[in-house]
Amino acid sequence: MRILFIGDVVGSLGRKTIEQYVPKLKQKYRPQVTIINGENAASGRGITEKIYKKLLQDGADVVTLGNHAWDNRDIFNFIDSAKKLVRPINFPEASTPGHGIVYVKVNQEELAVINLQGRTFMTAIDDPFQKIEDLVSEARKRTPLIFVDFHAETTSEKQAMGWFLDGQISALVGTHTHVQTADQRILPKGTAYLTDVGMTGPYDGILGMNRAAVIGKFQTALPHRFEVVEEGRSLLSYCVIDLDNKTGKAKSIQTGLINEDHPWKD
Ligand SMILES: [Fe+2]
Repeated sequence: MRILFIGDVVGSLGRKTIEQYVPKLKQKYRPQVTIINGENAASGRGITEKIYKKLLQDGADVVTLGNHAWDNRDIFNFIDSAKKLVRPINFPEASTPGHGIVYVKVNQEELAVINLQGRTFMTAIDDPFQKIEDLVSEARKRTPLIFVDFHAETTSEKQAMGWFLDGQISALVGTHTHVQTADQRILPKGTAYLTDVGMTGPYDGILGMNRAAVIGKFQTALPHRFEVVEEGRSLLSYCVIDLDNKTGKAKSIQTGLINEDHPWKD
């Protein structure tokens, strides 16, 4: 099974870039499952039903989320019925709507897609290590093919999670920092690992936001209103992972960027 995973779609420029390049990426790589992180898709904060449906229409099989999942109130209107949308699984179970895991059927196989969130320099939600351990043993009864989008701030928490789950899941790919790392590898027991896949959207902002406000905040330490860059050059960040359907182990992981410094080649 081949998975295409595209990192954090930021605002309208991110959505336009998805529309433009996902068909080309699919033609080039022929993935069986395409996963897109959409937690910043609505003006950098959250997602709406309309945007979720557009991401599916543009080629996503599953849309993952993260800490901004709840920022656009529209999420509460549709998350319970959105079958291809996953929010971080380790929010408090009793009070959180939506699902943290979905199964995607591809011919005879099934891929479990899980969204998990870190706690270091982030909201103190439930322990992701304990939560994922229980969940993975549940999921493995159904399929050995398991993909985790680990939405977390620090490289150390992401590496710790990768090593913790090595051999238990097929792939763990980080999101949230918006900068692609170059540490893609297969861990010794067969789990594909990448600290962060990077973002999709404005190429000339700071993590997708207007530069002047971010620089101003660092200069003055005073509050600044961050706005998403809506026009100009764009970037798409992705990775492609190949899995052995029988064992669930990863065979390869490669990363890619599409921007003016890494122009698209068919
Ligand atoms: Fe995030």
